[in-house]
Amino acid sequence: MAFDLRARLEQRRAADLYRQRPLLQTPQGPQVVVDGQPLLAFCSNDYLGLANHPEVIAAWRAGAERWGVGGGASHLVIGHSTPHHEVEEALAELTGRPRALLFTTGYMANLGALTALVGQGDTVLQDRLNHASLLDAGLLSGARFNRYLHNDANSLASRLEKAVGNTLVVTDGVFSMDGDIADLPALAATAKSRDAWLMVDDAHGFGTLGHNGGGIVEHFGLSTEQVPVLIGTLGKACGTAGAFVAGSEELIECLIQFARPYIYTTSQPPALACATLRSLQLLRHEHWRREPLAALIQQFRPGAEQIGLQLMDSFTAIQPILIGDSARALRLSQMLRERGLLVTAIRPPTVPAGSARLRVTLSAAPSAAQVQLLLEALADCYPLLEPADA
Ligand SMILES: Cc1ncc(COP(=O)(O)O)c(C=O)c1O
Repeated sequence: MAFDLRARLEQRRAADLYRQRPLLQTPQGPQVVVDGQPLLAFCSNDYLGLANHPEVIAAWRAGAERWGVGGGASHLVIGHSTPHHEVEEALAELTGRPRALLFTTGYMANLGALTALVGQGDTVLQDRLNHASLLDAGLLSGARFNRYLHNDANSLASRLEKAVGNTLVVTDGVFSMDGDIADLPALAATAKSRDAWLMVDDAHGFGTLGHNGGGIVEHFGLSTEQVPVLIGTLGKACGTAGAFVAGSEELIECLIQFARPYIYTTSQPPALACATLRSLQLLRHEHWRREPLAALIQQFRPGAEQIGLQLMDSFTAIQPILIGDSARALRLSQMLRERGLLVTAIRPPTVPAGSARLRVTLSAAPSAAQVQLLLEALADCYPLLEPADA
């Protein structure tokens, strides 16, 4: 018997690693209904509350009237329409890069950029806590693949000494499961000193960091030369879907020629691009959207520390509570759910073994009173959690 799927599933369940999909029965927002239960959710990446914004919905609707519903073909055939092109121009402007290229998902943007830039005989060096899509892309590229210690420019420097061929250094901008931000000035300088290129996946920083929401490169004021390959996704702070790579004219032309996940897929629906365009305008010009988010983070951190929760070194919307053991993380998530709060437990292999956590995400949408409810529920539940098995 080659495929014993039942045994695999049972093993996963026994290790407290079994995944289930909560069924969302309402739009994104602080108050949702999941599997029939009304809940206050602290786990969405809709950081600015744009996924259900009336003006974005109206732009999508008008886009469908004007452009129809399907992309129709790949970008290189006849699927590259005016709204896609306008989104690219808006993204280049917002990130301060000469050009941007629109992808259907962030997973595909990472896969496409990385495999177009390095291959056999080259080197890819990645932060050990990078997102799975970057790690997968590194393996798929065929380049020599090594990981450096988390956010550690010295560790990167020692690995750069052994690098061969074209070398790409790859990091998350805001680490998706930890919430801390990459020390990009140090990483950029280290990469440059060895003629390596830096690629940053700013999925969680784009829209939330920087005065205009331009993300981590705006936050640190880093040029195209310092960060030659910038990735951002549109399904999080931007509230829609898709992703982009931004950089030089030559980089974008190269991706159009060689990035297989760009070339061999149907373009996203143009109406979606219309929605993204509206969303980008809101994200850029309504600076005040980032303010409530910052205030809620300021409220949450001291409150959680007072309860004795172990937080991570994060000033961003991602505020994980480190638990360690997967079963305990699941139990705490379940206790919160019984009190009407949805906070997802994140377990290995998404995070390293022994570092299961509750990934609390804050957004501009909930009120201070709702964050207070979360803190009160955590104060009630956390002391009831049994200690981990020895
Ligand atoms: C850091 C990071 N990169 C890339 C992705 C993938 O983006 P997308 O959801 O658009 O495929 C995600 C999560 O979705 C992410 O957290």
